[in-house]
Amino acid sequence: MDSELVLVIDFGAQYAQLIARRVREANVYSEIVPHTVSVADLVARKPAAIVLSGGPQSVYAEGAPQVDPALFDAGIPVFGICYGFQAMARALGGDVARTGLSEFGRTVITVDDPGHLLADVPACFNAWMSHGDSVHSAPSGFRPLAATQGAPVAAFEDTDRKLAGVQWHPEVLHSEYGQKVLSTFLHQIAGIGSAWKTAAIAEEAIERVREQVGDKRVLCALSGGVDSAVAAAIVQRAVGDQLTCVFVDHGLLRKGEAEAVERDFVAATGAHLVVADAKDQFLGHLAGVTDPETKRKIIGREFIRVFEEQARALDSEAEIEFLVQGTLYPDVVESGGGEGAATIKSHHNVGGLPDDLAFTLIEPLRTLFKDEVRQVGLELGLPEHMIWRHPFPGPGLGIRIIGEVTRERLEILREADAIAREELTKAGLDRDIWQFPVVLLGDVRSVGVQGDGRTYGHPVVLRPVTSEDAMTADWGRLPYDVLERISTRITNEVREINRVVVDITSKPPGTIEWE
Ligand code: XMP
Repeated sequence: MDSELVLVIDFGAQYAQLIARRVREANVYSEIVPHTVSVADLVARKPAAIVLSGGPQSVYAEGAPQVDPALFDAGIPVFGICYGFQAMARALGGDVARTGLSEFGRTVITVDDPGHLLADVPACFNAWMSHGDSVHSAPSGFRPLAATQGAPVAAFEDTDRKLAGVQWHPEVLHSEYGQKVLSTFLHQIAGIGSAWKTAAIAEEAIERVREQVGDKRVLCALSGGVDSAVAAAIVQRAVGDQLTCVFVDHGLLRKGEAEAVERDFVAATGAHLVVADAKDQFLGHLAGVTDPETKRKIIGREFIRVFEEQARALDSEAEIEFLVQGTLYPDVVESGGGEGAATIKSHHNVGGLPDDLAFTLIEPLRTLFKDEVRQVGLELGLPEHMIWRHPFPGPGLGIRIIGEVTRERLEILREADAIAREELTKAGLDRDIWQFPVVLLGDVRSVGVQGDGRTYGHPVVLRPVTSEDAMTADWGRLPYDVLERISTRITNEVREINRVVVDITSKPPGTIEWE
C-alpha cells in the first residue's frame, strides 16, 4: 500500500467503522485494528497516525482497555476520541474523574483557546457526546482547548508531539464541524497528505488481484447486486478472460434484472458470462410450499446445486483456482478478522460448496465500504441502475409472495413491483429510501369493484423503509401523491390486484421483509 495509513484502534464502540470512513473521506486510507494489538505491532505497520476510538466503558472500570503509554513515545501522531481521549489523558498523567454529570447526545462545546485543532470552528457549537467520566486536567505539555458543562477539558493538543483529542464524537453526523476537526488533525497536525482517492482504489484493487491470480482461472457468481458486480468488474479488468462469471437465473428476480445482468453487465465489462437458466427447477421445487423457512432452504439448496454443476463443468474444461467473493470491509471487521479470516457471505450462497470443489477466495472489496464500492463501480463503467440498486434478498421475490410461489404470482408481483420502483425513481426518492419491497398476499383475496364489475383480487403491500444498515428501520414516509400514483397505476395496470396497502411498521418489531 503506497498511501499513508491511519490505524483506528477499536475500543469496542460502534463508532470505529464510522471513524475509519470519515478518515477516508478526508482522503487518507484507514484500517481498524483491535485494542489488543501491541505497540510494537502497531509501530511495525508504520502508520502515519493513529486514532483511538470511543468505547463503552469507564477508563476506571475493571478490565477496561488501557492505552500503553509507550504508544506516545513512538513518534506517531495520535488523535483520541471520547473514551480514546480519556485513555490518552490517563496514560499521559492527566486527571480523569467522574463528574456526576453524564452527557449523552447534543451538547454545547465552548472553545476557550482554539489552538491549531479548533482554529477553523466557531467559539461555540453543538457536538454529539456520550460520556460519564471526564478529563479534569490535561496531561503536562498539553493545551486545553474547549469545555462543556460536564467536561472541564473537552479537547486538548500537544502539537510538538502531534497529539490531540476531543471528548465528543466528531465522526457522527450530528456533530457540527466534525469532519473539519478530524481533517485538521490529519492534515495540519499530523501532516498527512490527501493521496487516497477513489480512482486510486480501483487501480490498486486491480493490481492486487492481478498479482494474486497470476495466470490461473477465476470463477464468480453474479447475483445482480452491486457487490458481486463490482467485484467481478475488478477481476475482469485484472485478468480478462481468465474470469468466468456464472449467473444462476432462479426466476425470482424483479422485472428487467436478469436481463440487466445478461446484457448491461457484459456490455460494461466484457466479462465472459454463463447464464444457468434454472427457473423451472426452482419453481418445481417450490411448488406447494408455503412455509417461509422452507422456501429459503429450498432456494439456497437449489442455488448451490446449480452453481456447483456449472462450476464442475467449467473446472473440468480447465482447472479453476479462485472464487470471487464480494466481502466488504464491515463484514471483515464484524467477523473479528482485521487480518486473514475469510468471511463467506451466506447470501452469496456459494459458501456451501463441497470440499472436493475447493477454491481459494479472492475478495477484492475486502478493504472497502459500500459507498467506496459504488464509486469504484461507477469508475469501472457499470450502469447506474446496478450501482444504486436497493439491497435485495438472495431468495428474491420468493419471500415476497405470501403463500405458494407460482409462475403466475411471480408475474403479477413483478409488474406491481416495477411500477412502484418506477414511480419512486421518478419522484427522485431512490436514495432516500433504503429498500422498497412490494409484497403479494397470494393467499388473501378481497372484494373490489372495477368498471361495472365486482372483482375478487389480491392485495399488495408497499413496504418502503428508511435505514442505515438494515438492522433497524423505520417506515418510509412517502409523499401521498407518490403513493397515490403507485396505487392507481398498480390497480389499473396489473390484472388480479384490486387493493394496495402501505405497511407502517418500524423494525423492530417488524422485519423489513414479510417472510
Ligand atoms: P429483515 O427482513 O430481516 O431483512 O429485516 C434485513 C435485510 O436483509 C435482507 N434479507 C436477506 N438478504 N438473504 C439475503 O441475502 C436472505 O435470505 C435475506 N432475508 C432478508 C432484507 O432484504 C433486508 O435488506
